[in-house]
Amino acid sequence: MERTLIILKPDAVQRQLVGRIIGRFEDKGLKIVGAKMRRIPRETLERHYSDHLGKPFYERLLAFMSKDPVLILALEGKNAIAVCRKMMGATFGSKAEAGTIRGDFGISDSFNLIHGSDSPEAAAKELKLFFAADELVSYDIISAPWIYDEDELAPGPPGRSRTPH
Ligand code: CDP
Ligand code: MG
Repeated sequence: MERTLIILKPDAVQRQLVGRIIGRFEDKGLKIVGAKMRRIPRETLERHYSDHLGKPFYERLLAFMSKDPVLILALEGKNAIAVCRKMMGATFGSKAEAGTIRGDFGISDSFNLIHGSDSPEAAAKELKLFFAADELVSYDIISAPWIYDEDELAPGPPGRSRTPH
């Protein structure tokens, strides 16, 4: 199981799309293990978006992201990082595939509704940046045995992961 950091950006909050976007993740079988509504301080955004420092869109991105509250989520599930990126769709709303969150709900290239960690390294960094350890909760959901088969749920020795078929 993996955890990933998701931010529902100010445009998702202002357009009141938060429930519908979270619903997609719940429908998929992902579990919410952390959630907080915040206005993100600029210093936190500078750390979060450090890879983009100096790019033409950097200042506008920080202004957009710090302007209004966002919903910050930690989601858990099998391959959660890649699964969430796929569900989000391509960066630009105008290019994102129909059926994805960005493809279905937006058309702007910068107001694109959602952030999601793009790698295990990014997820580790971002989860730590936005959540203290005791703000992430571990619990079982009662539908888990119907979301995953028993091999997927059982904690096994390293390397017992299944081969695709
Ligand atoms: O969010 P994602 O990982 O898909 O894209 P990114 O390349 O890491 O860019 C981070 C964010 O910067 C995007 O989600 C957009 O909100 C914004 N951006 C922009 O406003 N204009 C661009 N040309 C590229 C990105
Ligand atoms: Mg990115």
